[in-house]
Amino acid sequence: MSNPETTQGKAAPELSEARKVYIKTYGCQMNVYDSERMADILAAEGYKSAETPEDADLVLLNTCHIREKAAEKVYSEIGRLRALKARARGDGRAMKIAVAGCVAQAEGAEILKRAQSVDVVVGPQSYHRLPALLKAGKRAVETEFPAESKFDHMPEPGFRNMRLPGDRPQPLLQQQAGLPRHAAAFLTVQEGCDKFCTFCVVPYTRGAEFSRPVARIVEEAEALAARGVKDVMLLGQNVNAYHGAGPAAGAWPLARLLARLSEISGIERLRYTTSHPRDMSDDLIAAHRDLPKLMPYLHLPAQSGSDRILALMNRRHDRNFYLRLVERLRRARPDLALSGDFIVGFPGETEADFSATLDLVRAVGYAQAYSFKYSPRPGTPAAGEAQVPDAVKAERLQRLQALLDEGQAAFNAKMLGREFDLLLEKPGKRPGQLVGRSPWLQAVHVDAPESLIGAMVKVAVDRIGSNSLFGALVDPPRAVA
Ligand code: 5AD
Ligand code: SF4
Repeated sequence: MSNPETTQGKAAPELSEARKVYIKTYGCQMNVYDSERMADILAAEGYKSAETPEDADLVLLNTCHIREKAAEKVYSEIGRLRALKARARGDGRAMKIAVAGCVAQAEGAEILKRAQSVDVVVGPQSYHRLPALLKAGKRAVETEFPAESKFDHMPEPGFRNMRLPGDRPQPLLQQQAGLPRHAAAFLTVQEGCDKFCTFCVVPYTRGAEFSRPVARIVEEAEALAARGVKDVMLLGQNVNAYHGAGPAAGAWPLARLLARLSEISGIERLRYTTSHPRDMSDDLIAAHRDLPKLMPYLHLPAQSGSDRILALMNRRHDRNFYLRLVERLRRARPDLALSGDFIVGFPGETEADFSATLDLVRAVGYAQAYSFKYSPRPGTPAAGEAQVPDAVKAERLQRLQALLDEGQAAFNAKMLGREFDLLLEKPGKRPGQLVGRSPWLQAVHVDAPESLIGAMVKVAVDRIGSNSLFGALVDPPRAVA
């Protein structure tokens, strides 16, 4: 199919002459990681980053489909971009629009039908095909789950020479060297999910579970360390189901991968997300006791506290299993900060079911957690069930969030006067201030010179804010290597 938007009007320069991309990312950390990899791929093709969509020859929307009205939001963003594209064409420039990520996967060719201005639609498993699709010059959809892995078609880690919107400002020297320098980075080790919770689109948009081989992950982590990364968050939709091919025969579980990554000098902190309670194996629990680099933080979604709802959700765990698991984890690592996800108003949820969720939240004592109103995802089993009225969902969400906020405030309040290592990541809101993450993933603000971005420093907490902590440097700060 030809694209009327690009074949009409003034002769536009070929894409190969005009190469600036603007990538807008929605949704989860895995999308952030994917956007970085797409930036790597496009950088290898000669693209530079555009500061704004107006300035871009290619606007790439990396979309999320997990919750409400995701597709509608993408269509309205495309509507806004259509005007930019028309203006660019008026100026004799060809601007392309590409849609990637989970909405691209779920909607596929429908996007090309509904939005004439979109040139390329590419699913999360095939974005390594992006340059070829762009070069082909035809409107195209690629949402297959190809036999070859996109991970085998990536440029060398660290190739990226562009900044993405939302990237942190870089020290000048690094900018001149063209290398982004972050103290913390994401690393995808696993993708997809075979669990089929009845509310969730992930098994359909991201496909079957797939684990990257150990050697590839180690290489990527070493490259990150060489770039000055000290803190690595391993990503996967069901990360603790990881079972990647080891260097010799046999697959490695996540615990063994974490132990191996702990050996990399320069990497000082490791975390992983998101975990399923059923895949929290004994060796992984033991890793929280045995690996000093594994930070005392775990995102462990429960989704509900009611056994009846957990069964309807096909969660494969009940309330008791979850609570016992938390106990075992805390025995292994007493200061573990727990985080979670909850859904309110799942079809059939009664006030008693919801109370059971509130009870679970009280029993666990989360450091922080996310909560959502159930939203039917087309194609998932629960979407066809009778829905809880929105007003009831809204009211339950409010109550749950108030309780979670209370829990978070209580967890943060315990930090007053505590000393710990802080990894300084970026400038704070006020001049002279930097922000970093505590071992428990709280944001901590301190007065410190910009030269300390990327440094691990000791801080003492002297004030508790509503969502973050404030502290002061304790020792004379160590210089950045
Ligand atoms: N409705 C509401 N929340 C959802 N989540 C996933 N699917 C849905 C849905 N259909 C939430 C779950 C999951 C998090 C990433 O998003 O809590 O853990
Ligand atoms: Fe979705 Fe997580 Fe359930 Fe997999 S385990 S289906 S990703 S909620």
